[in-house]
Amino acid sequence: MSSFTKPLRKSLVREIWDFTGPGYRAARKRFEPYEWSTDKHIVLTGATSGLGLSSAKTLAAAGAELTLVVRDAERGHALKQECESLGAKRCEVIIADLALLEDTRRVIAVLIEQGKPIDVLINNAGALFNARAKTSEGIEQSTSLLLLSPVMLMQGLKPLLQAAGSARVVNVVSGGMYTQRLSMSWLRSGFAHRYDGPAVYAQAKRALAIITQEWHAEWAKQGVFINTMHPGWADTPGVQSALPTFRRVTKWILRSSEEGADTIIWMALDSALENVSGCLFLDRQARRYYLNKKTQERPTDRRALLAFIEDHVSN
Ligand SMILES: NC(=O)c1ccc[n+]([C@@H]2O[C@H](COP(=O)([O-])OP(=O)(O)OC[C@H]3O[C@@H](n4cnc5c(N)ncnc54)[C@H](OP(=O)(O)O)[C@@H]3O)[C@@H](O)[C@H]2O)c1
Repeated sequence: MSSFTKPLRKSLVREIWDFTGPGYRAARKRFEPYEWSTDKHIVLTGATSGLGLSSAKTLAAAGAELTLVVRDAERGHALKQECESLGAKRCEVIIADLALLEDTRRVIAVLIEQGKPIDVLINNAGALFNARAKTSEGIEQSTSLLLLSPVMLMQGLKPLLQAAGSARVVNVVSGGMYTQRLSMSWLRSGFAHRYDGPAVYAQAKRALAIITQEWHAEWAKQGVFINTMHPGWADTPGVQSALPTFRRVTKWILRSSEEGADTIIWMALDSALENVSGCLFLDRQARRYYLNKKTQERPTDRRALLAFIEDHVSN
């Protein structure tokens, strides 16, 4: 196993400090100098803000062929022009509300119809909801946006990922998941009886990380390499609007969107990631999936999650 895929072990305080801007800048000292250049076809969700926007611009400047899945048509089309002027080989925009499974299915159908192999799928779109709500499809919105939609995109786009020969999936999760042990009874209830935005967000991210761990070995045999990353704490519009108090207290040590997105780009483009799967990365280094044994889910919850996914995500 190469050293960057072996999860780093540090004290809890140092693991958390690594989430910050100074943590990123300390890690950066071990990065190889690079100038990215690629002709990969990359599908990126949530490209209009924060980490996704930074990723879109960097990938465009590297020459990638981009398909950006965004929910705001006006900003999406302005971004397409910007990406083309930055150097993207081609940039297409698909408009979709990824909290809706119907829209997610439509994105898959459009891409399958086009038939173009996908080298990299980046499941980045996300939000932390402080109030509980169901989508018009009757699904609790965090579950739909943060778990079902990315899983559906992985499954639905798998034929195009396989067609690329050796493809990658980057699932953006969150260090917040370290606070949570998956509770399938809570998740299945749509977080109905007790709602706590950060905890619900962390449950959904934890669930996506577990699915990645469950599937990666089988998918790798089929030429699709799935990994997760968490970006640390980045000062993005999403953090500013969903966590204003956290942001006020920590703004001096937050990292920039570019710093948070660095590992996304590295996972999409770096040759070191060839044939690597099942890892959780922070700052180009594998990290542990659990910082505390108490957050390790029960095997019954793990099985229940797989069944839940099976029930909800049939393309
Ligand atoms: N920033 C952090 O410190 C941090 C930490 C841990 C994990 N993350 C994760 O990193 C990812 C990016 O977050 P960010 O901080 O960059 O947040 P952000 O600035 O709010 O950007 C989120 C992106 O997702 C899109 N999006 C949200 N809901 C959507 C929906 N229903 N359908 C389609 N697109 C949707 C947003 O579109 P609009 O522009 O239209 O709103 C935006 O482009 C998320 O998965 C987040 O959970 C971030």
